Amino acid sequence: MSRSTHPIGRMMRFFHSDEQANRGMMDSPDYARGLAFGEKWAGTPAATEEGSPVPEESNPLWKYFCEHTEGPGIWKWTHYFDIYHRHLARFRGQQATLVEVGIYSGGSLGMWKSYFGSGVHIHGVDIEEACKCYEDEQITVHIGDQEDRAFWADFRTKVEGAQILIDDGGHTPDQQMVTLEEMLPSMPPGSVYVCEDIHGVSNRFTAFASGLVTLLNAQNTVRGPIPVATATPIQQSLCSIHFYPYVVVIEKNAVAPSRLEAPKNGTEWQPFLG
Ligand SMILES: C[S@@+](CC[C@H](N)C(=O)[O-])C[C@H]1O[C@@H](n2cnc3c(N)ncnc32)[C@H](O)[C@@H]1O
Repeated sequence: MSRSTHPIGRMMRFFHSDEQANRGMMDSPDYARGLAFGEKWAGTPAATEEGSPVPEESNPLWKYFCEHTEGPGIWKWTHYFDIYHRHLARFRGQQATLVEVGIYSGGSLGMWKSYFGSGVHIHGVDIEEACKCYEDEQITVHIGDQEDRAFWADFRTKVEGAQILIDDGGHTPDQQMVTLEEMLPSMPPGSVYVCEDIHGVSNRFTAFASGLVTLLNAQNTVRGPIPVATATPIQQSLCSIHFYPYVVVIEKNAVAPSRLEAPKNGTEWQPFLG
């Protein structure tokens, strides 16, 4: 029986990945097909409301933002508040280190203090010297250019293992890519990386993050009737990559898996797929 007609052969084909094909993803007809599909989108619409997304009323960050009508300015897209709360709520009341790139008028630093509590130390990064004025016992301000690798090398000697990094800095793809390349590897297991303000359909940071997504799907070993793949370094380190409008969130695994597998449970099986 040939591999393609044997049930296990068919299953192997089903699980087989073609990483070479994925490497040219952005140039591929499938990428163009997805774009065309999305551009002519005719899916079931959600009930529409006039205006921008309103975060959950129970979201403490949104409440803080709405009530913060005076003092240091905060500038955020409204749909970011539910994204933050979804990925960051587990750090509330914990001991942790947060890095926010982009301080501007300092209001977001106060919001993080209120949200996470006194156990979280906040390191703000900005290119503008004036932002030094936002330092206090819970906030350290670092002045530097996020696109400068030497700045991050020095930063890593001063700040060990941030559990949360929010990139709300200059928003150019090169700044975003350098910051991620320099900081994500040094972040500890279970940490969360948020990159904000990724705008435009041809955004280079989107292409960069899509490269990481491709590697998350790598399948380098398959053996036996139950598919088992040795986890690649990226699969061991990264748990998930989330795309939202203008935002990418990357979560690191708390515990690194050595392999990914698909066991079967149950005693009754159809004859096809083996
Ligand atoms: C959008 S504002 C930050 C808003 C703030 N996080 C908030 O929520 O209100 C962007 C900040 O990034 C800073 N910035 C711009 N380019 C930068 C760079 N290359 N390195 C570090 N900070 C930069 C700007 O000075 C500005 O204060």
